[in-house]
Amino acid sequence: MKKILITGGAGFIGSHVVRRFVTNYPQYHIVNLDKLTYAGNLANLTDIEDQPNYSFVKADITDAAEINTLFKQENFDAVIHLAAESHVDRSITDPTAFVMTNVIGTVNLLNAAREHWKGNYGEKRFYHVSTDEVYGALGETGMFTETTGYDPHSPYSASKASSDHFVRAYHDTYGIDVVISNCSNNYGSHHFPEKLIPLAINNIKNNQPVPVYGKGENIRDWLWVEDHARAIDVIFHQAKSGQTYNIGGHNEWKNIDLIHLLCDIMDKKLGRPAGESAKLITFVTDRAGHDLRYAIDSTKLQKELDWVPSLQFEEGLDKTVSWYLENEAWLSDVTSGNYQAYYDKQYEGR
Ligand code: NAD
Ligand code: TYD
Repeated sequence: MKKILITGGAGFIGSHVVRRFVTNYPQYHIVNLDKLTYAGNLANLTDIEDQPNYSFVKADITDAAEINTLFKQENFDAVIHLAAESHVDRSITDPTAFVMTNVIGTVNLLNAAREHWKGNYGEKRFYHVSTDEVYGALGETGMFTETTGYDPHSPYSASKASSDHFVRAYHDTYGIDVVISNCSNNYGSHHFPEKLIPLAINNIKNNQPVPVYGKGENIRDWLWVEDHARAIDVIFHQAKSGQTYNIGGHNEWKNIDLIHLLCDIMDKKLGRPAGESAKLITFVTDRAGHDLRYAIDSTKLQKELDWVPSLQFEEGLDKTVSWYLENEAWLSDVTSGNYQAYYDKQYEGR
């Protein structure tokens, strides 16, 4: 049986990846390693937590000794690395936390792989999950391809760019089998309500202002999170060592247009008069260094590995809103902080 370490599996995308691998691959044992920061929530995985091919380890990837011990004990066959500090606004307030987890944490994992996989590099795989934000910002036209030069602007994207470089360096220097994917903005269930879409859903639901940075003219390319998890599955199993793939939805939206669409969906679902939720839109001071536009060219992934997004945005957004409205307990536990108190108690002293 193959043993796969998935880091950050209690977070938004990680929980979808863990669910997919535990469910679709009973021949693998999935070890989910997560520090359970504010963004990590084991309630994201209650549906699969009792599966015999799943286990959870609470650990911090910045702790090299802890990571080494785990690699020694578990003899992993592969790593799918998602653990990260992921929110741009937080990176503007506290860049160091991003250097620690995203750069040092990634290097700690690479060092453990380098040490414990010695003599076996050809049979092991280190998959690094990254972002399109490493490429910087686009103007009105053009798209990011795998050969676009790195030009990160935020402390978040700078830390992810650095981690990407380290992963490639360990491939080139030591011969470790690595793959990297750079994905556009994800949306879907279990998304922490600090990012645009879940924050707006929560605020609209509670009749609170919906903050739109600047004039709302920035553009993001949105992808259904389960399509991202499927792309990771395909790349993990089929990509050649050292390859990079861009993952995106060919689905560009101006923030303000997206928020209007969301308000329309919410009006319908909450039985409000048309136009009611849009009254909550509030233009606020722009984010410092706000990247104007992201757009991913995923032709390489489509052509080489036959992956295409499965869901239209309108349908995906509708499903996402329904999930948040149907999972009120999840949302209120996350917004009140109750979810952390519960897990702090459960893992006291660990
Ligand atoms: P998230 O913030 O929802 O989850 C991150 C997870 O990592 C959490 O469970 C957290 O507890 C864990 N974590 C953080 N620091 C840790 C540490 N020091 N040790 C162990 N675990 C730690 O993030 P997400 O949105 O699910 O993103 C997952 C990955 O995908 C990240 O690497 C991110 O850069 C990348 N990514 C995200 C998006 C997006 O739209 N959200 C797009 C492209 C790429
Ligand atoms: P976000 O979800 O933070 O993702 P990222 O910064 O990684 O793209 O933000 C998506 C877009 O929405 C981005 O252009 C910033 C903007 N935004 C707002 O206008 N208001 C908000 O409250 C937030 C969180 C983001």
